[in-house]
Amino acid sequence: MFVCICRAVTVDEVHEHCDAGAYTIDDISDRCGAGEGCGTCLEKLDSILSERLATSTSAA
Ligand code: FES
Repeated sequence: MFVCICRAVTVDEVHEHCDAGAYTIDDISDRCGAGEGCGTCLEKLDSILSERLATSTSAA
């Protein structure tokens, strides 16, 4: 499923970038361009990052 239509970036790709060390929207944008177009996906990107942070902190 695409999270960023402008750059054709999928949710799985965003998770892969996070796994590789992306912690912010800027990190993800730098790696794949997501969020650098219309900006519609920024809220979804933030949601993915927040979910991952919540998961990682609850597992610690
Ligand atoms: S949908 Fe991501 S920048 Fe437009």
